Amino acid sequence: MDMNTNLPSYLDQSEAVKNRFDRLKQREVILEVKQLGKVYKTAKGEVTALKNINFKTHRREFVCVIGPSGCGKSTLIRILAGLEPHTSGDVLLDGKPVTGPGRDRGMVFQGYTLFPWLSVRKNVMFGLEMNNASADEAGKEADMWLELVGLEKFANAYPHELSGGMKQRVAIARALVNQPRILLMDEPFGALDAQSRAKMQTHLLEIWRNVDVTILFITHDLDEAIFLADRILVLKAHPGEVQELIEVPVPRPRSVRDFTSPEFLATKARLEALIHPPKTLAEKDAEDEAITQRMIRFVNIEDNVE
Ligand SMILES: Nc1ncnc2c1ncn2[C@@H]1O[C@H](COP(=O)(O)OP(=O)(O)OP(=O)(O)O)[C@@H](O)[C@H]1O
Ligand SMILES: [Mg+2]
Repeated sequence: MDMNTNLPSYLDQSEAVKNRFDRLKQREVILEVKQLGKVYKTAKGEVTALKNINFKTHRREFVCVIGPSGCGKSTLIRILAGLEPHTSGDVLLDGKPVTGPGRDRGMVFQGYTLFPWLSVRKNVMFGLEMNNASADEAGKEADMWLELVGLEKFANAYPHELSGGMKQRVAIARALVNQPRILLMDEPFGALDAQSRAKMQTHLLEIWRNVDVTILFITHDLDEAIFLADRILVLKAHPGEVQELIEVPVPRPRSVRDFTSPEFLATKARLEALIHPPKTLAEKDAEDEAITQRMIRFVNIEDNVE
């Protein structure tokens, strides 16, 4: 498209953005993924879900992972969470190998995973009480985190009384209450309508600014990734490999106005080229032909609507 020729390169960073990345890279490494591979053994044979994945995440960095469906995003995050064993390579959190789930990692998934029989407050207290905190202590901590996510007024409500966005805010509070080193989020806003989703993105950035936590966030929404991330890890499918690691050149703090800034659009054009590479004319013709063939079965009508 011609419009793209007017855009700066997605590599162009302003002085402020360069300085932010310089500072970021000086912070300690929280997560290190080295030559990570995952092969699932299924009845039909082996499926290589991930191959040779390498990256590092610094303290208080916000990393998004994007890639086509089936490229291994959820597999990656489940391995980092310790919910799924990997088959090669290493995952180090604060320099120590990940061998199972732990309090140093908080999880938020797309599906609402609150306990429906517990109040909002009790949901947030749950993890602390499991770790032997007294009810008094756990209650105080829960109240503090509920205030941070703006839900202190709903402490005694039950999950079914909350909107989708509110449920995810409780899920974030519940994940943060254990003060994890890293928050692992797998398409957490995927089930929300566009408006709630936009609100949650802004809200999450606010939380991240105020809490000492590193975030790894999976999404297949390019705008969401650019809006949130310091860096975006782009995976490709079959097998899931790192295609590119993009430093997002959009300055912070970010607001909805940034969605149309030249840096934002340049980054989006780059991501689109990586994720939806342009098809050749022959490929397009073959696709059109297949659709026509399929449609012929349905369209036995004389009158054409076009
Ligand atoms: N438990 C499993 N057993 C066998 N194969 C699996 C299993 N889980 C995932 N896979 C395969 O591994 C690959 C990666 O799956 P994964 O769910 O990690 O992808 P994803 O990037 O999260 O996809 P989506 O965007 O649709 O959520 C796919 O080919 C999938 O079929
Ligand atoms: Mg997934």
